[in-house]
Amino acid sequence: MKTAVPYCLCWLPLLLPLLVLPASVVAQAYSNKTLGSSLTAGDNESWASESGEFAFGFKEIGTGGYLLAVWFNKISEKTVVWSANGGNLVKKGSKVQLTSDGNFVLNDQEGEKIWPVDSTITGVAYAAMLDSGNFVLVRQDSINLWESFDNPTDTILPTQALNQGSKLVARLSETNYSSGRFMFKLQSNGSLTMYTTDFPQDSENFPYWSSQTTGFQVIFNQSGSIYLKARNGSKLMDVLTNEASTEDYYQRAILEYDGVFRQYVYPKSAGSSAGRPMAWSSLTSFVPENICTSIRAETGSGACGFNSYCTMGNDDRPYCQCPPGYTFLDAQDDMSGCKQNFVPESCSEESQEKGLFSFEEMTDVDWPLSDYGHFTEVTEDWCRQACLDDCFCDVAIFGDQGDCWKKRTPLSNGRTESNNGRKILIKVRKDNSTSEPSSEGNKDQSTLIITESVLLGGSVFLNCLLLLSAFLYIFRKRKSKTLQPHQAMVGANLKNFSYKALEVATDGFKDELGRGAFSTVYKGTLAHDNGQLVAVKKLDRMVRGVEVEFETEVSAIGRTNHKNLVQLLGFCNEGQHRLLVYEFMSNGSLATFLFGNSRPHWDKRTQIILGTARGLLYLHEECSTQIIHCDIKPQNILLDDFLTARISDFGLAKLLRTDQTRTTTGIRGTKGYVAPEWFKTVPVTAKVDVYSFGIVLLELIFCRKNFETAVEDENQMVLADWAYDSYLERKLDLLVEKDQEALDNMEKMEKFVMIAIWCIQEDPSQRPTMKKVTQMLEGAIEVPLPPDPSPFSKSFPHQPLLCRRN
Ligand SMILES: *[C@@H]1O[C@H](CO)[C@@H](O)[C@H](O)[C@H]1NC(C)=O
Ligand SMILES: *[C@@H]1O[C@H](CO)[C@@H](O)[C@H](O)[C@H]1NC(C)=O
Ligand SMILES: *[C@@H]1O[C@H](CO)[C@@H](O)[C@H](O)[C@H]1NC(C)=O
Ligand SMILES: *[C@@H]1O[C@H](CO)[C@@H](O)[C@H](O)[C@H]1NC(C)=O
Ligand SMILES: *[C@@H]1O[C@H](CO)[C@@H](O)[C@H](O)[C@H]1NC(C)=O
Ligand SMILES: *[C@@H]1O[C@H](CO)[C@@H](O)[C@H](O)[C@H]1NC(C)=O
Ligand SMILES: *[C@@H]1O[C@H](CO)[C@@H](O)[C@H](O)[C@H]1NC(C)=O
Repeated sequence: MKTAVPYCLCWLPLLLPLLVLPASVVAQAYSNKTLGSSLTAGDNESWASESGEFAFGFKEIGTGGYLLAVWFNKISEKTVVWSANGGNLVKKGSKVQLTSDGNFVLNDQEGEKIWPVDSTITGVAYAAMLDSGNFVLVRQDSINLWESFDNPTDTILPTQALNQGSKLVARLSETNYSSGRFMFKLQSNGSLTMYTTDFPQDSENFPYWSSQTTGFQVIFNQSGSIYLKARNGSKLMDVLTNEASTEDYYQRAILEYDGVFRQYVYPKSAGSSAGRPMAWSSLTSFVPENICTSIRAETGSGACGFNSYCTMGNDDRPYCQCPPGYTFLDAQDDMSGCKQNFVPESCSEESQEKGLFSFEEMTDVDWPLSDYGHFTEVTEDWCRQACLDDCFCDVAIFGDQGDCWKKRTPLSNGRTESNNGRKILIKVRKDNSTSEPSSEGNKDQSTLIITESVLLGGSVFLNCLLLLSAFLYIFRKRKSKTLQPHQAMVGANLKNFSYKALEVATDGFKDELGRGAFSTVYKGTLAHDNGQLVAVKKLDRMVRGVEVEFETEVSAIGRTNHKNLVQLLGFCNEGQHRLLVYEFMSNGSLATFLFGNSRPHWDKRTQIILGTARGLLYLHEECSTQIIHCDIKPQNILLDDFLTARISDFGLAKLLRTDQTRTTTGIRGTKGYVAPEWFKTVPVTAKVDVYSFGIVLLELIFCRKNFETAVEDENQMVLADWAYDSYLERKLDLLVEKDQEALDNMEKMEKFVMIAIWCIQEDPSQRPTMKKVTQMLEGAIEVPLPPDPSPFSKSFPHQPLLCRRN
């Protein structure tokens, strides 16, 4: 979750002297441009809107090239918000005109038409640059024939909307406006998706971000909010959140060349700037959260160029760096990819190149998906030699489980990955390899983060000085220091096991511990780790399409750490094989403990109740992404050496879910424990776990399964019903007739029953959160009198029905 630092201020003008050209363009007074009007590149003329805030015309980019564009006209940067001709520059003398017969065309200096490419806009009566930033071509009857708002490039403005099928395509670099490597698209089916493109074509390659909901339009409304709108006009979800007003700030949202969709604001006047600099500053909300790890595509280079690797800076911007022995293809462009700064190894027989290469070592970096060889149970020396002996091998990766991967260039999807337990061996030529890692891959246009408090008070001049010095200081610091890997991946200390290694560990998957609908669990021993006992879970099937997300999901699970959770130690993702390696729990599951031969002590049961509640609370509220378990039941609550409750199988719901739509066949969870909303068309929330916890709580109190047929009285078949009826009749003691310990703790037991009844309310909103549940269990807050769990349908129609069917 993002912390609430109000703004990240990024002073592009300070940082991009090249881009900031003097305002040499003279705007003509506003009027509707009638037939015969034209603009010529190099003539210093443009068509401004009535307020003068936007202008349309040729903007000089660098030296000698002109971009036909719309820009913010009242600010010194003249920031471009739309461009014609695919962002390609035209030469001086090129002309855009509204011909006397109503066509609107851009011709080059020789009079050849270059834009629009495949058609000509005809029947135009006049053109107008509107104050919204929309450039329109209008027919005689005032119908807009064409609008720049309907044909966006990489930017949208307040009052602009993206319709289904529309897209934004990022520019190639900060200063090159032609189509780049990322796309932001509202699909025709309503899902809002960000893709890498098949650069230089702008077709969709790999989706790296997607909205959870589908919508009809993306709206950038008058007040500066950007959200997904339903067909009926209601807001479905915020795309970005914004707290700056459009009255005081110019605003724009842009899919930037680094693949991130960000919103920027610029004070309209010094008076309204509230201490912010007179420059564009980016808001704290942006998507995707981490571009570096979002992309894992079979084709394309990933977030950075080929052979480079991506690190999220502390300013929430991605930085591309080259591995040792490599430098940027284009020193000015850190997204250009990296080349070997030595002569690559020759594979021809004549040249004896053996012995001329050695390795530069790195850690915490990975280039997933570009292996061409994988060996298991080898030593590091073996791995090194294998790569040295192979003229195709450019990089070898050695994993601490005895894995060795060979990779060849170009490497793709490079990213920093802390503590992945791998040694990265970059093969370089000995004689002229650079010993220094080329870590100056930081953007030339370094960006600067500073909180606005620095700027409060003080004159504009002082602020500028302060800014400039802060900028110089940080810029120097950046230059002199290697960029530190981002801390976000710390904690995902997972081992990537080979299938072979797990086969060995489990002695050929011999000792089966348990079996679920989608998986089988085996006992194993890790020889490498002092004979540590593990439980190896072999997944038989996964949701289609989830295969690619496997490692992402698993690393999310791996980042969780709580004493009431079973710790994931590693995984295997090899070919068809998907396995998860967990700590081994010596005391088996709560199911065996609870429904076994002897009744466990009340105190132990109380501890297990509290432990389970705390584990769930952690999953719901305390880990970085909320995890809904979806299958809480005694079989999934394991007990360690000290009989501490440890929740297992969390986070698997996403990987194993058979179906997105919850038809009865798609229900996750286990009959008897599943919440009623699974059967309805209402959203499934963390409250489904609260429900299941309520059932498990009753089972723990009464040491009995929720559903039992071998009972004398039919009213006792469903424990939840029986408990509620007995609670109402104040006859709970009948349920624990033979349990002296429980009878001795009647008051506490009754309280627990009340909490359980709260948890199993049919209406999810009536159920308390796990936080509340935990507080009530701990006695920190009072337990109010619970209402009837299913007020509308007498006594739980769903589960008994399902159970009876079998
Ligand atoms: C431009 O044309 C529109 C529609 O004909 C008209 O409403 C508007 O007043 C005109 N604006 C100017 C400045 O001539
Ligand atoms: C455009 O303006 C620049 C700077 O003010 C000037 O140097 C140049 O001569 C002007 N060009 C024309 C064609 O007026
Ligand atoms: C922008 O990049 C494209 C594609 O690499 C290139 O053809 C074009 O010349 C570049 N434009 C500028 C102004 O550098
Ligand atoms: C929408 O379409 C895209 C591509 O056509 C597809 O990948 C995606 O799954 C679809 N989304 C929904 C919700 O149907
Ligand atoms: C823009 O959207 C935000 C969030 O939905 C809403 O609060 C605001 O009133 C909207 N503004 C306008 C002018 O519709
Ligand atoms: C509009 O549609 C959405 C779903 O598409 C729905 O959740 C919402 O209740 C609807 N609002 C109105 C006012 O009909
Ligand atoms: C290594 O040698 C090649 C060819 O002689 C040369 O192009 C390259 O610049 C050299 N690299 C370094 C780092 O000296």
